[in-house]
Amino acid sequence: MIRTKNISFSYKEYENTDELDSNDLELITAARETALNAYAPYSKFKVGAAVRLESGMIVRGANVENAAFPSGICAERSALSNSVSNHYNDKPTAIAIVSIKEDGLTEDVPSPCGNCRQVLAEEESRTGNKIRIILSGKNKTLIIESISNLLPLQFNRKNLNLTPL
Ligand code: THU
Repeated sequence: MIRTKNISFSYKEYENTDELDSNDLELITAARETALNAYAPYSKFKVGAAVRLESGMIVRGANVENAAFPSGICAERSALSNSVSNHYNDKPTAIAIVSIKEDGLTEDVPSPCGNCRQVLAEEESRTGNKIRIILSGKNKTLIIESISNLLPLQFNRKNLNLTPL
C-alpha cells in the first residue's frame, strides 16, 4: 500500500510593521540593532537575531564570520547559544531575524539556514515550547508559529527517546 501524504502550513504576512504586536515589533527592533554588530567582512551580509524568553527578556546574537569560513556562526545560533548558556531555564518563545546588506535592510525576508533550523528544533524539543519565527524584511514580515513548520519530519530528541526537560 502506497499513500501520498501532504505537508502544508499557514503563516502570517504583515505588509506593515504597525500591524504587528508591540512585543514582536520590539523584538524586530532588537534584531535590527544587533545586525549592526555583525562581523561579516567576507559576505557583507549582516544578520541579527533576537530571542524572546518566557520571562520577557530579550537575548541577542549576530553572525560572526571567520577567515576560516566554516568557523563562522549564524546570528540565530549565536543568539541561542547566548540564551541557553545564560538563561537555561528561561524558555525561548519567539525569535526575530533580520538581514542587512550594504544598501540596508534586505527586501527579502531572511531565511534561517538548515543548521539553524536544526538548532531551533532542538531548542523546541528541549523546552517543549514552540518558538515563533519572525522573519522581517524591508517591507514585509512573516510570522511562522513553530520551527517544525520549517523543518518537517525533523530528527530530534524524541528519536532518541528523550522527552522535554
Ligand atoms: N547567516 C546567518 O547569520 N543566518 C542565516 O540564517 C543565514 C546566513 C549568515 C552566515 C554568513 O555569515 C552570512 O550570513 C552569509 O551566509
